[in-house]
Amino acid sequence: MARIAIVSALHDELSAVLELFPDEQKTQVAGRDFWLGDLHGHEVVAVLSRVGKVAAATTATVLIERFGVQQVLFTGVAGGLHAAVRVGDLVVARAFVQHDLDASPIFPRYEVPLTGISRFPTDARLSDALAQAAEHVLSHLAATLGAQVIERYDLQNAGLHQGLVASGDRFVSSQAESQALRLALPDALAVEMEGAAVAQVCHDYGVPFAAMRTISDRADDNAHVDFPRFTAQVAARYGAAVVAHWLQALSK
Ligand code: ADE
Repeated sequence: MARIAIVSALHDELSAVLELFPDEQKTQVAGRDFWLGDLHGHEVVAVLSRVGKVAAATTATVLIERFGVQQVLFTGVAGGLHAAVRVGDLVVARAFVQHDLDASPIFPRYEVPLTGISRFPTDARLSDALAQAAEHVLSHLAATLGAQVIERYDLQNAGLHQGLVASGDRFVSSQAESQALRLALPDALAVEMEGAAVAQVCHDYGVPFAAMRTISDRADDNAHVDFPRFTAQVAARYGAAVVAHWLQALSK
């Protein structure tokens, strides 16, 4: 049985996942709580990474070194960048880039020095299963969110996107900044603050990694208004439902 890590940055993003396995045991390492338990036939370690790339890299390293996890899943929220990516949509990451990494002219912009890599791919098998789980949840949305929440957030047409996600140590909350990111990385679907760091650590250790983000805002001047309410009411439930389906699919 593979040991699987499920990681979110903030408590609101993971709360619904933790409710899925009430028999978990808690261990503290590096100031973080790691919850160990069984979920859908898998040994699961759930943890809050906290916010930002360093916090995420530390968490991923502890998960691999101390807890021996063999697969890592990140679930949480992101700001939509691409024009087609709307609040309430889901994004399954196929690759990550650090949008704030620039060691040019010594190394090309975005390239992680001495690796030759600017875009870290996610694991194809885990991401395929994640996309299938996300499609399933989207096509049974009322069962996950209830009709009221769907109507309140106008989620009737919520869809799935797959592709590049950009990570950096900034909450992007202005139209000017998100427009600059769109120009610099035209194929980036969404922006968040941890995924590329986890992808890099998992790459270094050869541990398969997948990530799904619920779009909580459009990374514009309203981003900070939309974010907390949406995370608690929508993203946490989406996350837990997709995680449950994903774990079930992996055990088949
Ligand atoms: N996570 C959710 N929304 C975000 C944003 N606008 N910028 C960075 N990370 C985010």
